[in-house]
Amino acid sequence: MRPASEGDIRALLTSSPDVKADIYGRVSRTSLPGLQPKVGLTLTPAGWALPGGGALSTHIVKLGAGPDTVAADVIDTEVAVLDLARRAGFEAPRAWIESFAGARAIVVERFDRKVAEEGVGRIHQEDGAQALGLNTEDLDRKFQRGGRDLPSWRALAAVLTDSFSEPDGLLRLVTFKHAVGDVDFHAKNVSFLRRPDGSIKVAPVYDSAMHMHEPSGHDGRSAIEINGKSDMDAIAAADLVAEAVSWPIPERRAQRIVAQTLERLVVALDEISPSDHPGVGDRAWRVVRDRADRLSAESLKTAKTMTKRNVSRPIRG
Ligand SMILES: Nc1ncnc2c1ncn2[C@@H]1O[C@H](COP(=O)(O)OP(=O)(O)OP(=O)(O)O)[C@@H](O)[C@H]1O
Ligand SMILES: [Mg+2]
Repeated sequence: MRPASEGDIRALLTSSPDVKADIYGRVSRTSLPGLQPKVGLTLTPAGWALPGGGALSTHIVKLGAGPDTVAADVIDTEVAVLDLARRAGFEAPRAWIESFAGARAIVVERFDRKVAEEGVGRIHQEDGAQALGLNTEDLDRKFQRGGRDLPSWRALAAVLTDSFSEPDGLLRLVTFKHAVGDVDFHAKNVSFLRRPDGSIKVAPVYDSAMHMHEPSGHDGRSAIEINGKSDMDAIAAADLVAEAVSWPIPERRAQRIVAQTLERLVVALDEISPSDHPGVGDRAWRVVRDRADRLSAESLKTAKTMTKRNVSRPIRG
């Protein structure tokens, strides 16, 4: 391990002539998958260090997009989404914005590490594409965009149910990310962790941002369909429930999970202070607020309809 100055980190994030530039004109340099240029660093009492010689990174640093691009605020909304997630009851790594000699980046604590006095250890994580055995050399394969052998929420839920683990956490995550307007929830943006008893759980929330306030950055379609739909504005609370019923989660339980997740998000939006996230604009907050309110109202209406239906159902026997 060797100490890394701001300049070193900036250089790692911004200069890598051997790798091609991404759609934002940035270059990628790390063994971590994903499109954004990123570097793994170790936080020590003396500051940032480059892992090496057996030492593991404790944090992931991702470079923000240029100030004049459509993705300029993505790292800011990512920090805000992780804050919202934590407030809404999810596990979410701590994250903040930091500038390395002028290179603005998001720093995210690694959830696949355990930091103890003896040192830093690994926690095995497997992302959705790995768990399904998808070859994502073709980057489109992590999305569900026609073709064969593509991810679906049903197949990803089966990773849990096939191991006798509950898929409820996956429904919570799909509901939350849909409500905040994350169009990039593809198979590599969900991960699975194994508990000591052998069961599997969904990893903490990561790589999630608000996208719907910036329509020019995407086509308004979800990365993976929800109940056969991909139009982010048309996917309703009932679609989240119907999707989960196909995994299968019993309808009443699915309904409860969706309604509770949305309600918690609405409360989190009430509680969060926008001044903690100066890089997130009014429009971004408004769009998320509208989505959460609409979906939450829909889910409560569906719950009422279900209760009525059950009350009026004749008792057999
Ligand atoms: N906080 C974290 N702790 C542990 N592993 C993480 C964390 N955040 C991301 N990862 C891992 O690193 C990979 C790349 O990170 P991330 O998804 O944030 O990058 P990205 O470049 O934004 O990806 P994309 O291609 O989806 O835009 C993830 O697929 C995940 O496996
Ligand atoms: Mg990612």
